[in-house]
Amino acid sequence: MKREFLTTQDGSVTIHLPDWNEQYHSIHGAINEAKHVFLKHGLEFFITSEENKAHPIAILEIGFGTGLNAFLTSLFAKENGLSINYTGAEAYPVEPSEIQHLNYSELMKAPAEMFALLHESSWEVANVISEDFILTKRKQFFSEIKDKEAFHIIYFDAFGARVQPELWTEEIFRAMFNALLSNGVLVTYSAKGSVRRAMQAVGFTVERLPGPPGKREMLRAIKVG
Ligand SMILES: C[S@@+](CC[C@H](N)C(=O)[O-])C[C@H]1O[C@@H](n2cnc3c(N)ncnc32)[C@H](O)[C@@H]1O
Repeated sequence: MKREFLTTQDGSVTIHLPDWNEQYHSIHGAINEAKHVFLKHGLEFFITSEENKAHPIAILEIGFGTGLNAFLTSLFAKENGLSINYTGAEAYPVEPSEIQHLNYSELMKAPAEMFALLHESSWEVANVISEDFILTKRKQFFSEIKDKEAFHIIYFDAFGARVQPELWTEEIFRAMFNALLSNGVLVTYSAKGSVRRAMQAVGFTVERLPGPPGKREMLRAIKVG
């Protein structure tokens, strides 16, 4: 599918899919959205419990894409002394030639080599990006995810239900529920009622939270117990 680049309202670049009229991130700000949904309401929320900081935190990202969420998470881990094992699932990796359009390291005032490393690292193996950030990229379809009690946090960042309704079903959320450890947390930018009900149907306790710029609400689902 054809991929184009566009600059979102906070100055960060995202990928636009003209065939679907869909973006990888919010047009109101890719970095702002990622920080709000995945960092603030996902990882930062998870470490409000002191005991959760004490051991490596396992994160699964549904849709590795541009690597923005992995990059922001690695920077956050460094600043906060966390150890992260990050797994990114992705069926259609971004091409090396496309990476140069992404201006995240410049905007985050972080080394460009570090962002490049996320993309240059090998697939299907654990890559030591830094001493506190290990990245495993898995080239797979989300429907193939069969992990059991393996992750503390899931960043659920699939394209919207308008274009990929099959990724927002009870079947997918059951696989996510099974992949989480007990008291694990799933966050997503979506706030759709049908998505919330699908999450609840498979056992999640779901909260509606204020959304990122341009969105009233988002969802956080917890595997309580
Ligand atoms: C909304 S984008 C978000 C990407 C990423 N989180 C980012 O910040 O750039 C969704 C991602 O899911 C991937 N994707 C779409 N359908 C998929 C599927 N069925 N299985 C695996 N990956 C898929 C796309 O290629 C894209 O990278």
